[in-house]
Amino acid sequence: MRVLGIETSCDETAAAIVTHEGEVLSNVVASQIPVHKKYGGVVPELASRAHLEAILPVIDEALSRAKTTRESIDCVAVTKGPGLIGALMVGVHTAKALAYSLDKKLVGVHHIEAHLAAVRLWDLDDPNPADVSYPHVALAVSGGHTALYQVNGPGDVHQLGQTLDDAAGEAYDKVATMLGLGYPGGQVIDDHAKTGDPNAIQFPRAWLGKRHDDFSFSGLKTSVRYHLRNHGVPTGQALYDLCASFQEAVVHVLAKKTLRAAARCGVRDVVAAGGVAANSRLRHVLRERAQDMRPALNVHIPPIRFCTDNAAMIAGLGAWYLQNGIHSDLLTLDASAGLPIPSPCEP
Ligand code: KG4
Ligand code: ZN
Repeated sequence: MRVLGIETSCDETAAAIVTHEGEVLSNVVASQIPVHKKYGGVVPELASRAHLEAILPVIDEALSRAKTTRESIDCVAVTKGPGLIGALMVGVHTAKALAYSLDKKLVGVHHIEAHLAAVRLWDLDDPNPADVSYPHVALAVSGGHTALYQVNGPGDVHQLGQTLDDAAGEAYDKVATMLGLGYPGGQVIDDHAKTGDPNAIQFPRAWLGKRHDDFSFSGLKTSVRYHLRNHGVPTGQALYDLCASFQEAVVHVLAKKTLRAAARCGVRDVVAAGGVAANSRLRHVLRERAQDMRPALNVHIPPIRFCTDNAAMIAGLGAWYLQNGIHSDLLTLDASAGLPIPSPCEP
């Protein structure tokens, strides 16, 4: 079975072809970063227009790279939410039109659930998919979301906690803007931090007492703002030190809360996914500390190209739903800006 996945929830227009075994045959992502960069964040109306221009060429490219045709796919899977409503509608209505005209099945997929399921994808560059047991604890950490889940099985996801204010990626992007490092800021802060001292500045960590599975990053962001007001925007080594110190505060909290939740839930496997799971320090710290736990925990993080927004994760989860007899109604499937998780494929 071959599934065409379509993702347009934010600022990436993406399409991919994935088999029912989770093999990614193609994965095309058209980034809109140049469109939004000068505004320091995503402008929803510009995002919708850019999706409209890119969507059909991106789908054609995904089909061509997978050496397949529209007619020979079995199903169209699309992100139905959460995300920017105008952006989502471009993907959902394209998927509906394709499914209707080609007489194919249609599956609406929850974006965050797809991030978590990306861990089972594989391709020729990474041919060994993670062997993740259920239940496991998963950290979804991106520009729009930071939350912890207990995943009992595909389609059976229970939220343990979430950010009370900013998402971790949002904090990265806002701090990068304050430092004049451009948008988005995650990768550049990650790069600068590699030559910085993570203990140079003690930024606050929000443990939140009894809300042990929730997160908060707005205090950290404000603390960076005050530091810059008092000391000015640093350059050179002092900039690298600030990036490393900020990053350490984010990563320390994410890793500790995730592993603590896993130990409390009695699971052996931990998944981290979403754009911030591309972060080199988070990947390292999670793996290192999981090995020190007794019993040791197994950490699974998708390859970076499946962490940041992509359509392979949408197609992969869509294939799973279809195999289990779940698909959406062509007439009533619609985009929804904010959806709760879990998401059985109700219309
Ligand atoms: O999952 P994603 O591509 O889109 C959303 O669903 O939000 O995540 C984008 C976020 C951005 O905030 C970006 O700065 C962050 O992921 N990001 C990173 C890294 N690469 C991307 N954050 C930290 N370190 C990175 N290497
Ligand atoms: Zn995402």
